[in-house]
Amino acid sequence: MHAVERTKAFLKAAFPGGARLYRRVRKAQQALGARTRGMGVIFSDIYRNNLWADPESVSGRGSTLARTEAIRRELPAVLQSVGARSLLDAPCGDFNWMRHVDLRGVEYTGADVVPELVARNLRTHGDRGRSFVVADVTRDRLPRADVILCRDCFIHLSFRDIHAALANFKRSGSRYLLATTHVSVSENEDTRTGGWRSVNLQSPPFNFPQPRQLIVEDAELGKCLGLWSLAELEVGRRSVATR
Ligand SMILES: C[S@@+](CC[C@H](N)C(=O)[O-])C[C@H]1O[C@@H](n2cnc3c(N)ncnc32)[C@H](O)[C@@H]1O
Repeated sequence: MHAVERTKAFLKAAFPGGARLYRRVRKAQQALGARTRGMGVIFSDIYRNNLWADPESVSGRGSTLARTEAIRRELPAVLQSVGARSLLDAPCGDFNWMRHVDLRGVEYTGADVVPELVARNLRTHGDRGRSFVVADVTRDRLPRADVILCRDCFIHLSFRDIHAALANFKRSGSRYLLATTHVSVSENEDTRTGGWRSVNLQSPPFNFPQPRQLIVEDAELGKCLGLWSLAELEVGRRSVATR
């Protein structure tokens, strides 16, 4: 047998199902036209090296069960209140807390820019009515959903990338955005993508209106999830220069 054939046979025997999983991830990536270079490199590095250094979740401390009590409790009712049949969790991270949420009757799609994380989620949590795709929320075509959940993402993105993601969410034709906002922040600061700081979506340069609903995740930090209709959000108008 030729060396390449031998290697293929070995890999097939050593990792049964591995080729199928790889093809599924590639297909999902291609379907969404994922172009994940810059963004993918930054967050893949964080993932591979567990730079958010939490023993429970590679998505960091904010994604532990202890820190997600409020959202796990309140998310089903919020979805129900707007008649949601589909949820795009963008980004989904490692699905650590979401796997405990009752999503009966809701088609779930988790999207993340880190291909290895998406492959892991597909392997361990992929199911009927629950899919995972590789996508950069700032630029890749996203599936239309009744609700896009964007939790703990904008805190890591530059103003420019947040604006791009918001425009992309609108472009998807989705109905609602449920996004992390820190109501205690009076003045937003820009950061490099991959860094961290709190963001208040109702302050410049985003100027969101009052949210239709607010889930308070941490009253002390002013960390909340606000629900907005995407149709009523004016995105793309920047009141400050972006990096
Ligand atoms: C702090 S984690 C939060 C994950 C999840 N929302 C949660 O609540 O557990 C941030 C995630 O955002 C992903 N991410 C960052 N920028 C992204 C982008 N532009 N497109 C898609 N995913 C992105 C990272 O790979 C990481 O998994």
